[in-house]
Amino acid sequence: MVIAIDGPAGAGKSTVARGVAAELGFTYLDSGAMYRCVALTCLEWGADPTASGEATSTAESIEIGFEDGEVLIDGVPVTDEIRTPEVTEAASQVSIHPGVRAAMVAEQQRLIATGPYVTEGRDIGTVVAPDSPLKIFLTASPEARAERRAAETGQDVAEVLAAQQERDRSDSEREHGALYAADDAITIDSTGMTADQVVAEIAGLARERGLA
Ligand code: DC
Repeated sequence: MVIAIDGPAGAGKSTVARGVAAELGFTYLDSGAMYRCVALTCLEWGADPTASGEATSTAESIEIGFEDGEVLIDGVPVTDEIRTPEVTEAASQVSIHPGVRAAMVAEQQRLIATGPYVTEGRDIGTVVAPDSPLKIFLTASPEARAERRAAETGQDVAEVLAAQQERDRSDSEREHGALYAADDAITIDSTGMTADQVVAEIAGLARERGLA
């Protein structure tokens, strides 16, 4: 069973999903980290992240793991390496390929079938788990999102905002796994809200629905 939290970059999905998982005793799954692992491996192997065949065979060749807060590729921790601006850009590129998405979606479905999960991404409520009993579409203003990302990475806000606009466009317009709110999703705009407030709201909804 999965509580699905989808939304654009910088809306606060990871902090909130982690918080909800801790509050309810569920396992947290960061689906974006999986696309980042494919992207990092492409860059390391010299595969072209924009080429469907190369990115798909890379996705199919690696084993992605999550252990004690670390992200692993074939058993090797890559938690920090997958957060660089180069990997962020390549992750957006690999995520448009249907073969890459099929491999990631299958792995996500396998994981969430094993117990109660809080999973965040772009297509969790629409593609990965359309039968999720609680779907949240978490968003915030573009400026608030860019400010949060810049504070995390130490980059310039204007630079982050420009790159973010491009990724938002690509995430929303791509043919496969495009970002949109599921019909039965509850939209939460986190602009001006603290992460704790958002966590409390989602945990409250989960309890109301008898999920925890
Ligand atoms: O959430 P994030 O920034 O770590 O995601 C990295 C990239 O992966 C981003 O370009 C969107 C993409 N992604 C996706 O296509 N589907 C998901 N379920 C999660 C992330």
